Amino acid sequence: MDRTLVLVKPDGVARGYVGEVLRRIEAKGYTIVAMELRVPDRALLDAHYAEHVGKPFFPDLVAFMTSGPVVAAVIEGQRVVEAWRAMMGTTDATKAAPGTIRGDLGRDWGNGSTENLVHGSDSSESAAREIALWFPTLPG
Ligand code: RTP
Ligand code: MG
Repeated sequence: MDRTLVLVKPDGVARGYVGEVLRRIEAKGYTIVAMELRVPDRALLDAHYAEHVGKPFFPDLVAFMTSGPVVAAVIEGQRVVEAWRAMMGTTDATKAAPGTIRGDLGRDWGNGSTENLVHGSDSSESAAREIALWFPTLPG
């Protein structure tokens, strides 16, 4: 069974969209197999966003992601990695298609930070790596 890592980012938690995000996941038919509310630390974010360390936006990304609690979850179902990416919409919420989480609920707030409510693993390899980082004791 396929699994992916879901994060409701600090903006999503602060704006009260934990329930809405989980509602969409459950309505679509995927199963939540782990979930936790926590403030990620720098070490976890360096590992999670390893591909982005050193990029110009990385300091802003870390500041944003440590600005408050996130909800981390593992969801499961056939082809859930690609489905969850489609449900999120594209990175830039301004351009994300209506019907997606970012398209329906996100926008540019003019603060220079790409606040886009949710994260999803971009491949099954990324999912396995990220799930091991966020939920190291979760049985496979
Ligand atoms: P995510 O990893 O969070 O699910 O988002 P993503 O795949 O759609 O986007 P990715 O390219 O992996 O970028 C990770 C997060 O970094 C922030 N970002 N800011 N200012 C910028 O140019 C920029 N680019 C990326 C966003 O918060 C993005 O979700
Ligand atoms: Mg990404």
